[in-house]
Amino acid sequence: MNILLTGGAGYIASHTLISLLESGYGAVTLDNYSNSSPEALRRVKQLTGMEFKAVEGDAQDRELLVRIIRENNIEGIIHFAGFKAVGESVEKPLMYYRNNLTSTISVIEAMLETGVRNLIFSSSATVYAGDNLMPLTESARRECINPYGWTKYMSEQIIRDAAKAHPELSCVLLRYFNPVGAHPSGLIGEDPSGIPNNLMPYICQTAVGIRDHLTVFGNDYNTPDGTGVRDYLHVCDLAEGHVKALAYALTRSGCDAVNLGTGTGYSVLDMVNAFERVNGVKVPYVIGPRRAGDLDECYADPAKAEKLLGWKAKRGINEMVCDAWNWQKKNPKGYKD
Ligand code: NAD
Ligand code: UFG
Repeated sequence: MNILLTGGAGYIASHTLISLLESGYGAVTLDNYSNSSPEALRRVKQLTGMEFKAVEGDAQDRELLVRIIRENNIEGIIHFAGFKAVGESVEKPLMYYRNNLTSTISVIEAMLETGVRNLIFSSSATVYAGDNLMPLTESARRECINPYGWTKYMSEQIIRDAAKAHPELSCVLLRYFNPVGAHPSGLIGEDPSGIPNNLMPYICQTAVGIRDHLTVFGNDYNTPDGTGVRDYLHVCDLAEGHVKALAYALTRSGCDAVNLGTGTGYSVLDMVNAFERVNGVKVPYVIGPRRAGDLDECYADPAKAEKLLGWKAKRGINEMVCDAWNWQKKNPKGYKD
């Protein structure tokens, strides 16, 4: 069975591609490489020894999507394509709404035109409002505080409404918590452009000497050590979650939102300390002010993923920091090396 991965060269998609190929699926990627490199796909081929087609193009282009689906007998789509930088979304909201919403609409229209029924969508824990009690279940109140978050919220709504109007569709909205780490081979990983926004790539770039220190954004949160707590999730576990979600989608129709997280929260200093201990490297840091919009803590109730998809995260914090460092030290400049 052939699956189309929009945004297929990206961080999460490239890891998912490996899991799909290893599970016996055929795959086609569509990416405009606006935030990725075709080198990631070359390395997936090297790693798996398997072939797949890679198309360069825009996921907003409905006609292109229809053509790819028809030419490759696509039976399911995993829609990863989108912009994801929170700060940039505040500065360029229309660019975010256009890319993230138009691509979602085009994907659904192309599915309806060609009769593809199965859709897995990359949503985010960012759709949850900040005043919920932890852990977050899928029914927690949703509200966003930046345009990026709203694009996920709105995409979810668009998909939910389409599934209601077209009962043959089978859609799974995967709400990722904080994906980190890399494939244990060190061949593929996260390759942020410019200064990383996220904690783990910042830790990695500090450890390798690209940045001279990490700034911990606040140590006066209502958490055990005062620093922000998040549900970090190994990207290979997340990748396997997509394969499980696809298998589930094939068995039913409708639309479900599912959290993909471990259910365990770690603080910024937990992550720094684990990174130093496991990898035997120093991560110099200073305590700085809070970052606007950050919550004290955010972690999932992952029970629905286990019940519905039979998925549970297997990898712990030591594997996360070990694999993140293995990728960084083998590729200090990411795919540019
Ligand atoms: P990424 O930037 O590495 O991957 C996104 C890919 O989409 C990139 O390869 C980019 O070039 C491509 N792309 C963007 N717009 C496109 C378009 N119009 N047409 C074709 N390709 C396009 O990001 P990622 O971390 O792998 O995230 C994948 C998805 O998961 C995104 O939708 C993101 O919003 C979502 N997500 C990510 C996180 C996270 O922390 N990484 C958390 C929650 C949700
Ligand atoms: N942090 C620092 N210093 C840094 C970067 C981050 O102290 O240089 C802290 C943050 O304050 C936060 C924690 O590390 O407490 C995690 O921050 P990230 O930016 O890595 O992750 P967020 O939880 O803020 O956001 C991520 C994605 C969003 C997504 C959200 C929920 O970046 O896109 O998870 O899924 F919406």
